[in-house]
Amino acid sequence: MNISKVGVVGCGLMGSGIAEIAAKSGFEVKVREVNDDFLEAGQKRIRKSIDRAVDKEKLTAEDRDAAWARLSFTTKVADLADCDIVIEAIVEDLDMKNALFGELDGLCGESTIFASNTSSLTITDMAAHARADRFVGLHFFNPVPVMKLVEVVRTIATSDETYDRAFEFSKALGKVPIAAKDNSGFVVNLLLVPYMLDAIRQLERGVASIEDIDTGMALGCGYPMGPFTLCDFVGIDTLYKISEIMFDEYREERYAPPPLLKRIVAMGRYGRKTGQGFYDWSGEKPVPLPV
Ligand code: CAA
Ligand code: NAD
Repeated sequence: MNISKVGVVGCGLMGSGIAEIAAKSGFEVKVREVNDDFLEAGQKRIRKSIDRAVDKEKLTAEDRDAAWARLSFTTKVADLADCDIVIEAIVEDLDMKNALFGELDGLCGESTIFASNTSSLTITDMAAHARADRFVGLHFFNPVPVMKLVEVVRTIATSDETYDRAFEFSKALGKVPIAAKDNSGFVVNLLLVPYMLDAIRQLERGVASIEDIDTGMALGCGYPMGPFTLCDFVGIDTLYKISEIMFDEYREERYAPPPLLKRIVAMGRYGRKTGQGFYDWSGEKPVPLPV
C-alpha cells in the first residue's frame, strides 16, 4: 500500500484516537493542531489513552513507549508535506476543510492520499477542489481505539489504486473496513443520526426524562449507552452540525435539528468534552441537566 508516514489534522476527540491507533500500528504519525494549547490538549488525550491501555494490560509499557516515539506534533501544515496519507479530523465545516485541503494540495507529494473523517459532508464536496482521484473518505467511530469499524468511501473520481491503498491501510490499523458510497451520512450515520435526533424530539414532547430514555434504550435494547449519553459522547456541537448538513442534503424531517439541540449548543453545552451537555460530567456520575 506504500504508506509509512501518516498525517493527522485535528487532535480533538477523533484525531487523537486516529493518531493513537496509527502509531500503535507501527506508522510514523505527524499530528497538526491550530495552536499550542490545542496541541497540548490533544497530546494529553493520546497519552492518557495509551497509559490506560497499559494499566489495563492491553499494551506493554515498551509498546506504549515505541508508539509514543512514532508520534510527532506540530502547528505547521507544511510539516505534513512528506506524509503518504493525510487524514483530516477537524471541525465539521466544509469551508474550513476545503481551505485545509487546498493548502495541503500545494505542499504534499503527488502520491499522497487525502482522506476525510467527516461524519456528514460528502467526500465529493472536498475532492472536487483537490486531487479528486487520490481522495477518499475514512470514517472512524468514537472511541477510535475501541470501535472496530471504518467506512471507506469512494467518489466517482477516486482511482482504484487509491481506494485499494486506503482499504488496506484501514486493515493495517486493525479495523474492519466496509465500502460505502459517497452519500451524506455514508451507512452508519444515515441510521444513527435520526435515532439520536428522535430521542431529543421525544424529550421535547415530554415522553420521559433524559435518564429514563437512556435507561430504556440501554436496558431494553442492550445498547451500550442510551441516546443522550451518546449525544454527549459524540459532541453536541458536532451533532448539530451533522444534523444541519444532512437536513440540507436530504430535506427530510428526520435529519432536521430539533430546537432543543440548537438551544443546548447556544448555551455552550457541547457534551462530555466540555463537561456539560445533556448531563453534567464533572462529578463521579453524570447528572442530567435542565432542558
Ligand atoms: N479510549 C480507549 N479505550 C476506551 C475508551 C477510550 N476513549 N473508552 C472505553 N475504552 C475501552 C475500555 O478500556 C474498556 O476496555 P476493556 O473492556 O478491554 O477493559 C472498554 O473500552 C469498555 O470500556 P468501559 O468498561 O470503561 O465502558 P463501557 O463498557 O461503558 O464501554 C464504550 C465504553 C466502548 C464507549 C461503550 O459504551 C460503547 O460502545 N458506546 C457506544 C459508542 C458508539 O456508539 N460510538 C459511535 C458514535 S457515532 C460515531 O462515531 C460516528 C459519527 O460520525 C458521529
Ligand atoms: P473536536 O471538536 O473534538 O475536534 C476538532 C479539532 O480540530 C479541534 O481540536 C480543533 O482545534 C481542530 N481544528 C480545527 N481546525 C483545524 C485545522 N485547520 N487544522 C488542525 N486542527 C484544526 O471534533 P471531533 O469530534 O474530533 O470531530 C472531528 C471530525 O470527525 C468532524 O468532521 C466530525 O464530524 C468527525 N467525526 C466525529 C465523530 C464523533 O463522534 N465526535 C465520529 C466520527 C467522525
